[in-house]
Amino acid sequence: MSQSNGNLSPEAAKARFLQLQAQLDAADLAYHQSDAPIISDADYDALRREFQALQANFPDLETLSSRSKSVGAPVSSGFDKIQHAVRMLSLGNAFESEDVQDFAKSIRKYLGLAGDAQLDFTAEPKIDGLSLSLRYVNGQLMQAATRGDGSVGENVTANARTISDIPHVIENAPEILEVRGEVYMSHEDFAALNERQAAVGDKTFANPRNAAAGSLRQLDASITKSRPLRFFAYAWGDLSQPLAQTQFEAIQRFSDFGFQTNPLTRMCPSVDALIAHYQDIEAQRATLGYDIDGVVYKVNDLSLQERLGFRATTPRWAIAHKFPAELAWTRLEAIDIQVGRTGALSPVARLAPVTVGGVVVSNATLHNEDYIAGFDSKGQVIRDNKDIRVGDWVQIYRAGDVIPKVADVDLHKRPNDAKAYEFPMACPECQSPATREEGDSVRRCSGGMICPAQAVEKMKHFVSRAAFDIEGLGAKQVEQFHADGWINDPSDIFDLKQNFGSGLQQLKNKEGWGDKSAENLFSAIEEKRLIPLRRFIFSLGVRHAGEVAARDLALHYGSWEALASALDLARPAALAHRAGDEAVEVERHKATVEGRRAKISDTRNAAVAAYGVPPEAAAAWADLINADGIGPVLGLSLSDALSIAEERAAIDRLVSKLTIENAEQAQAADSPVAGKTVVFTGTLEKMTRAEAKARAEALGAKVAGSVSKKTDILIAGPGAGSKAKKAADLGIQTMDEDSWLTLIDQT
Ligand code: IVH
Repeated sequence: MSQSNGNLSPEAAKARFLQLQAQLDAADLAYHQSDAPIISDADYDALRREFQALQANFPDLETLSSRSKSVGAPVSSGFDKIQHAVRMLSLGNAFESEDVQDFAKSIRKYLGLAGDAQLDFTAEPKIDGLSLSLRYVNGQLMQAATRGDGSVGENVTANARTISDIPHVIENAPEILEVRGEVYMSHEDFAALNERQAAVGDKTFANPRNAAAGSLRQLDASITKSRPLRFFAYAWGDLSQPLAQTQFEAIQRFSDFGFQTNPLTRMCPSVDALIAHYQDIEAQRATLGYDIDGVVYKVNDLSLQERLGFRATTPRWAIAHKFPAELAWTRLEAIDIQVGRTGALSPVARLAPVTVGGVVVSNATLHNEDYIAGFDSKGQVIRDNKDIRVGDWVQIYRAGDVIPKVADVDLHKRPNDAKAYEFPMACPECQSPATREEGDSVRRCSGGMICPAQAVEKMKHFVSRAAFDIEGLGAKQVEQFHADGWINDPSDIFDLKQNFGSGLQQLKNKEGWGDKSAENLFSAIEEKRLIPLRRFIFSLGVRHAGEVAARDLALHYGSWEALASALDLARPAALAHRAGDEAVEVERHKATVEGRRAKISDTRNAAVAAYGVPPEAAAAWADLINADGIGPVLGLSLSDALSIAEERAAIDRLVSKLTIENAEQAQAADSPVAGKTVVFTGTLEKMTRAEAKARAEALGAKVAGSVSKKTDILIAGPGAGSKAKKAADLGIQTMDEDSWLTLIDQT
């Protein structure tokens, strides 16, 4: 149907082009903003194909197009984008008192404080809403932005102005002041809103957080105005001058400016005081009148906050102590199998919907085959050996933002005809055998890139905007080319032209492609053979390796070869770490059910020790997970991705077709130490090694453990020995700690 538009007269083509463009824009807007599609997916696809065909057949129309560049790319939400002057971060989580002790300990260690040195914190409820950044210039509210991805948010200024807790003008404020806090809805207002919505046949919201988010993000600010939103101020971004010397006083200043601050904010001089306040808040949770999901602890002294700084996405000086997991019982209606990018067959429980801690849950993870069976391949018993069957009455466990899981089963309520679940031995998507490696709890589709589910998901991610971003090759085209048998894994993309000697001809004959667009596609692919390391890492689609993590990995290892060989070396230590995590998870669940606190470290240590990891593997693993922004979750996921034979072969094949640009260490161009390799030796008196290293890295330096010809600066404290001598022999610049601080303070 759509190729035929090549016969249209130029005038008719132009008219149809503008009409299609308007229809597609309207459909995008309805879909993305209002959660209310106006046409079916199939109709949308047909319109889009017709539009693409017109673009191909009438290249001159490009000049009229507001869409051509965004074909295949995500459609914007309708709000303008705002780059945050200071990134909006999230918080690390603590679940047990022990995690809070560890938080305080790691701060002391980082700052070099003695165990008994005074360290004050603030503690306040963690509001379950959505964060908002308000920018005031000379006391006038100029801009309001949602968090977005942390770096770029949405401009919701008009909406924020309708919230009565948000002052439009404040007095005695610094010239630039960004106030950050949480937009939320009270229980009472939420219930009344849902009642009003239902009465007029509009959609109701699942919980107050969704209602708050849906109400703030309205293109028509008069709708926001009609919604009862509130705001608590608890943090700040860009500032032209400091607000105070402590967190507590800064919050007091917000209150003086006219903001609502949470009345349960307290100063706590010790971890015991934090825990006591946590318990107090937990006891009041049901009567507060708004949702909270934990308590946030922050180091009180702002100069210490500054020294502690940030990891990739979370501050070192704050943590969220989450309330314990919520439990509920419901019926298991079916078990579905999902096939992931890596071929893992993941069983998903389809449940009779049930509310768990204020959220309606109808899907939960069943982890893997052994988890359903009630015992693992090593003969370990799971849930007292109780298997899980369709029709069973099951217990759902939900902790914070993690995916809910089926935690237990009630055998007394089992229907008589319930049959033991048979885990599929073949992939439901491609029928390839699904196999398990020894010691692996996951059954995987052996189809690799033959499996359409794996192949397509992988390639869509590969071409996405933050990955290879190949102009003209979006998700739709990947699906089309895959269905036609043209591409089966990312490396095939780079052979497209050569494998189809007459590729151009073939592509031209396809719906929606003309001479120009086909040629453009091939040259766009060629252009991307040279790819920066961080994009390459991101493109692999490894779980948890998002854009920020990929950049951190690139900066830490510098080259793909260095990263891959470090992961190979660290593999035994990664497996031991996972065994520790699993043991802790089991202990935590037992503790929740028995109503006690879990014992974490003993459980973990015993499980890790049982593995007997070689020291060089332990060292490579420690280097990986201690690197800024990386950590064990990502470490494990990377380690897995590179250890699966077919995955690795596909990656190696891809690497052979590319030139991967090594990462530039220098980030902070105006820093005098950017790109320099520095080594610390001897005793540092003003800060710990960890802090010295983190600060140097934040300024774009690379911190090495030993002196070599590549070293640029040696910072030698008292007691420096062989490293200082070696540096002198090699003629390397050497300075003491004070000179180093003077050097970096210039920045
Ligand atoms: S402080 C640099 N304080 O929790 C960290 N956040 O999980 C600044 N939140 O994105 C955040 N109540 O949306 C902070 N009292 C509170 C909070 C709070 C809720 C949210 C906030 C943040 C998320 C992190």
